[in-house]
Amino acid sequence: MTGPGPSGPATVLAVRGLDVAFRVGRGRRARTVRAVTGADLDLRAGRLTALVGESGCGKSVLTEALTGLLPGTASVRGSAVLTPPAGPRERSTGHDPVGLITAPESVLRDRVRGRLIGLVPQSAATHLTPTRTVGAQLRETLARLGATATVADLLDRAALPGHVADRYPHELSGGQAQRAGLAAALAGDPPVLLADEPTAGLDRPLVDHVTALLAGLAAEGRAVLLITHDLRAARAVADDVAVMYASRLVETGPAAEVFTEPWHPYTAGLLAALPDAGFTPVPGHPPELSALPDGCAFAPRCPVTADCTGDPAPVHRDGRSVSCHPPTAPALPATARSGAGSR
Ligand SMILES: Nc1ncnc2c1ncn2[C@@H]1O[C@H](COP(=O)(O)OP(=O)(O)OP(=O)(O)O)[C@@H](O)[C@H]1O
Ligand code: SF4
Ligand SMILES: [Mg+2]
Repeated sequence: MTGPGPSGPATVLAVRGLDVAFRVGRGRRARTVRAVTGADLDLRAGRLTALVGESGCGKSVLTEALTGLLPGTASVRGSAVLTPPAGPRERSTGHDPVGLITAPESVLRDRVRGRLIGLVPQSAATHLTPTRTVGAQLRETLARLGATATVADLLDRAALPGHVADRYPHELSGGQAQRAGLAAALAGDPPVLLADEPTAGLDRPLVDHVTALLAGLAAEGRAVLLITHDLRAARAVADDVAVMYASRLVETGPAAEVFTEPWHPYTAGLLAALPDAGFTPVPGHPPELSALPDGCAFAPRCPVTADCTGDPAPVHRDGRSVSCHPPTAPALPATARSGAGSR
């Protein structure tokens, strides 16, 4: 878990034991999709946390659970407590902690979404109303939140030129649309920002631009979660990292440590797939989330030759966590690294 040290930055959002499951299909075809399993995660003020992992592992569902945007078919267990940091934002949001999983929809709507948590949804462009200009939509968002910023302020914050206010969504490039979504998420000046793949489909200069923007927002004191497939971008800007595999956060910790000395073989595999590390993809495919095996879901793809059994619940050590329990558990980090090195 990316937990705070004794004098570390304040945890603004503490997720504990979060499970999300969907019941899908009917009759004999009915099955349970376990999209998030036992997630522990701390988002801290002034830090950017990158959430990485292959497609379909549960990243977006995690953010939807935190913002109350899951459909009625989802069952959610565990807790996620948001403690608003002291400061000027308290005037509109109050300082009392909010239990995001149990809060009624009225609290999520009036106090959380937009005010305490800004969400840049995956494919932000599709969330813009096609028949209204960007400026009109941002003005409406500012009015709804009772925010004092102007449309020009928001566009400037999201590094968009002022004339974008007069554009309709179909007149924007992909990168401009993503940043328009970011501008909307910033309207209420929320202390927590969840950005779900805000750089998908962008070329490298724009990726660098948007990620630098998010890092800047974190440096100003916000807790920022950046969901991305782009490990290179994550490595460039993240303070902390959370690695998700088949619904579990299998490794979390400070990015500088996790990216240089991964403990989980999957993290090592993702790093080995980077161009500067030889482009070696992790062999095989992740399991179906409706047919997760008992024990370690990574076992069929794992290069560590160990007879691993049992529940890979996270072990916390030195501000890091890892869900990897080979029989040589006390020497776990070294064991995981030796497996990584064998690639
Ligand atoms: N409303 C839903 N009903 C049933 N299953 C769902 C629903 N939403 C998501 N899922 C399933 O939950 C799992 C996780 O989905 P999620 O969208 O969180 O993946 P992701 O990690 O964000 O993937 P990507 O990187 O492609 O965006 C997938 O198996 C998906 O099919
Ligand atoms: S070493 Fe064992 S527990 Fe760890 S990832 Fe590999 S199979 Fe899973
Ligand atoms: Mg997603």
